[in-house]
Amino acid sequence: MEEPIIFSIESSCDETAVAILKGKNKVLSHLVVSQIDIHKVFGGVVPEIASRKHLDYLNQLAKKSFEEAKIRPEEISAIAVTYGPGLVGALLIGLNFAKGLALNLNKPLIGVNHLYGHIYANFLAFPELKPPFLVLLVSGGHTMILHAKDYLHFEIVGQTMDDAAGEAFDKVARMLNLGYPGGPKIDKLSQKGNAIYDFPKPLYHKGYDFSFSGLKTALLYFTRENNDYRIEDVAASFQKALIDTLIHKTIKASKDLKINDIIIAGGVAANSYLRKKIKDEQEKNKNLHIYFPSLELCTDNALMIARAAYEKFIRNKFSNLSLDAVPNLGLKDIC
Ligand code: KG4
Ligand code: ZN
Repeated sequence: MEEPIIFSIESSCDETAVAILKGKNKVLSHLVVSQIDIHKVFGGVVPEIASRKHLDYLNQLAKKSFEEAKIRPEEISAIAVTYGPGLVGALLIGLNFAKGLALNLNKPLIGVNHLYGHIYANFLAFPELKPPFLVLLVSGGHTMILHAKDYLHFEIVGQTMDDAAGEAFDKVARMLNLGYPGGPKIDKLSQKGNAIYDFPKPLYHKGYDFSFSGLKTALLYFTRENNDYRIEDVAASFQKALIDTLIHKTIKASKDLKINDIIIAGGVAANSYLRKKIKDEQEKNKNLHIYFPSLELCTDNALMIARAAYEKFIRNKFSNLSLDAVPNLGLKDIC
């Protein structure tokens, strides 16, 4: 089979991104425009502004992408687009753009679940990866341990009962007046601090599910009741409690299910303490193989959407032009 060329669009939140991928991992183009500077003055993403900005950027970004890839739109094999989960208005901008292109070029459309994209970001760097493997998916909206039984078949091993890991980072950063997005700010601050406070690690010894709201509340009370602390130490202690819990449960699941390949996916995979901790775990257990994407592929991008779409393309899993945006798309709809 000739290698497919997939043009992809990602617009589920505050990054407008397009990419062109040939085959499994030949990157012809990879462009991301972040709207962080626009939203940070509001302390978080403003959905209406995000949609308008996607609309402003998408056309020029697509044009630039084809120029960069040095191919004509007629040469692509399919158009892939994130259809959920995400902000409905933001998703619709990307989805309608993709549909228009598919109709105009008479090419198939491939709707991609954003979560599935985050997981497949790893396959760009590690082509040797194959199921079965475990996934620790830690994004702004999701925190889950998954068991990939096959390329398109994932089962939930554990998930958060309340806040997602990224959400907890963002909320705690807001409590500490650090601004948006919280994860990178806490990460940076923690590097100058020591994890001297013993914040709770909810459900640490119980199964594979997570709960972070208690940790968040403990931190809130701590900052209310004390005033002689260094914010760097509070950030480092919070980060340690959360990340240690994520890693502990993932390693436990890997031992219990006897799966040695583990993929870390999603924005929180960019966390420097998490990346260091994983290396330590790997040192301790040489049988484990833990993979995480490069920093730029941890956060939202369209290359991961194209890579996920590739798996659907080779299995002839195309979408109908009536495909709708699904803001709360869950894992069961991963395909
Ligand atoms: O995966 P992602 O781009 O968005 C969703 O698909 O939801 O992840 C964004 C999340 C945000 O909550 C952000 O604070 C967090 O990832 N994040 C981090 C870091 N970089 C991004 N959290 C901790 N440490 C980081 N370095
Ligand atoms: Zn994401």
